[in-house]
Amino acid sequence: ELLKGGQRPLAGRKAIVTSGPTHEPIDPVRYIANRSSGKQGHAIAAALAKLGAEVTLVSGPVTIPDPAGVRVVHVERAEEMRDAVLAALPADVAVMVAAVADWRVASAAGNKIKKKPGEAPPPLQLAENPDILKTIGHHPSRPKLVIGFAAETENVAENGRAKLERKGADYILANDVSPATGIMGGDRNRVKLIGRNGVEDWPDMDKEDVAAKLAARIAEALSR
Ligand code: CTP
Ligand code: CA
Repeated sequence: ELLKGGQRPLAGRKAIVTSGPTHEPIDPVRYIANRSSGKQGHAIAAALAKLGAEVTLVSGPVTIPDPAGVRVVHVERAEEMRDAVLAALPADVAVMVAAVADWRVASAAGNKIKKKPGEAPPPLQLAENPDILKTIGHHPSRPKLVIGFAAETENVAENGRAKLERKGADYILANDVSPATGIMGGDRNRVKLIGRNGVEDWPDMDKEDVAAKLAARIAEALSR
């Protein structure tokens, strides 16, 4: 009801959205990554733009097209994603949807690692990646509204609530990504919106509809 008639309640507002996976190189031809299509993050960037926001979408490697009406910064690694997000500050709202790889290879090889017959496989030494949501949630130029996702396979609401606290977010959209749900890579999503004052269970919806509902909530929250 709030958003009828082509209103642009986010006109003049700046938004940052992350989407997709990150790729952490092992060597020039191999990488570590999380599963992520980018569909949900890209849909959120598009939905915010539709409501009038000036959107910077920082996207990891995905196969889907750039959404219309959005400034897209393409990155590969988590550290590049963090740098691009920080460069887009200040903003009114940040929505961190990317499936950031938690670890990178401590020192990626400059040349392709070759198999050596009769030798053990090479060990991978990992280093922890920066937590982009946590960085933004505690940043001196923190956006008024900071929103994250939590992909869980068990204890969805509890784990989501803990992430909200730890990362300094206002909301966490938690979803159950157990293989049986078919959510990973699919066109639909079923999320719980976890806020400081409680949990809302949203029905199973198209990722576009989740995005539109979230964008409307963001507009409402920023108008207060
Ligand atoms: N996130 C991020 N940077 C990271 C890891 C996660 O910005 N290095 C963000 C994601 O974009 C998401 C939220 O943090 O919005 C939660 O990501 P998730 O992987 O569920 O949380 P983690 O803290 O990495 O915990 P774990 O993977 O152990 O469940
Ligand atoms: Ca993680």
